[in-house]
Amino acid sequence: MSDQTIQETQPDAAAPPHPTDEAAINAAIQAALAAFEASGNLEELKDARLAHTGDKSPLSLANRQIGKLDKSEKAVAGKLVGSARGRVNKALASRTSVLEEEEAARILVEETVDVTAAPVRRPLGARHPLSVLQDRVSDIFVGMGWEIAEGPEVESEWFNFDALNFKPDHPAREMQDTFFVEPADAHLVLRTHTSPVQMRSMLERDVPVYVLCPGRTFRTDELDATHTPVFHQFEGLAVDKGLTMADLRGTLEHFARQMFGAEAQIRLRPAYFPFTEPSAELDIWHPGAKGGPRWIEWGGCGMVHPNLLRAAGLDPEEYSGFAFGMGIERTLMFRNDVPDMHDMIEGDIRFSQHFGMEI
Ligand code: PHE
Repeated sequence: MSDQTIQETQPDAAAPPHPTDEAAINAAIQAALAAFEASGNLEELKDARLAHTGDKSPLSLANRQIGKLDKSEKAVAGKLVGSARGRVNKALASRTSVLEEEEAARILVEETVDVTAAPVRRPLGARHPLSVLQDRVSDIFVGMGWEIAEGPEVESEWFNFDALNFKPDHPAREMQDTFFVEPADAHLVLRTHTSPVQMRSMLERDVPVYVLCPGRTFRTDELDATHTPVFHQFEGLAVDKGLTMADLRGTLEHFARQMFGAEAQIRLRPAYFPFTEPSAELDIWHPGAKGGPRWIEWGGCGMVHPNLLRAAGLDPEEYSGFAFGMGIERTLMFRNDVPDMHDMIEGDIRFSQHFGMEI
């Protein structure tokens, strides 16, 4: 085709080639073949098809004239136009299949999925180790039939201090480095510990009370490797008939073993808290401590002060209680060997992922 010299002939609806004019019919064939070949895609080929094989194309018009011819001319014209149309249709069919193949190949290329392309990564989140540890502590107590209690983080000064037997001028108020919330006469603080939930629980619940309160707490500490102004504690409170220090010890020992393994032990050292009497510091013998087993200071505890029981409307002669409180960050530090508090608060997912979903 391409090596033939092609004369572009515009199909002329007004003057169709005479069906016996071989030169004119040939010109119509060449025009059709050239138009098909010049079509670069199926859309263009459609226009060429209409122009050269449609009802108004030169060859169709020539074909229509055959009927009007003399009998002698009919046979010649029929052969000439018939073979011309056959050639044009054949060329159209072959051009159509070439362009269809090209189209299919183009779509394949355009819609190819590059399986080697770098994926858009959507990193999976991880639960924060503090949350996981908090849940684990909660589970241990829920497993013993205790309930989970909550209290507000913006707490009244009364619940945070007064109700816990801190006298107005008690140095402990200052010792706890309190964030006071303005205006001062609203007497609100960011709770410095979870102990206010002790009085809240005793007022809100019927005895016996067995509650664990995990939650966020605040003190005006500068952030460093071992301090953070926002941290977490969990508070335990049991109030029932006949509870003694032995119950406190037994509970803490069971808890310690659940957390640190069967060889864990606890030790109580005399201490002072205004809301417990007697009070103790709790040490844990941590069998898996880094650098070998050793005693580690863990938290505070004691028997609920009779003043608190009375304020909650309970008779200290009939009811007694014990309470304890520990820091969750501190627990995570020595339980999982996290030497720097910054890692816990910076929110780098790599830190959390390192712990997995369970710790
Ligand atoms: N609330 C005390 C603290 O933050 C700990 C504590 C809780 C002590 C319960 C005794 C009983 O230091």
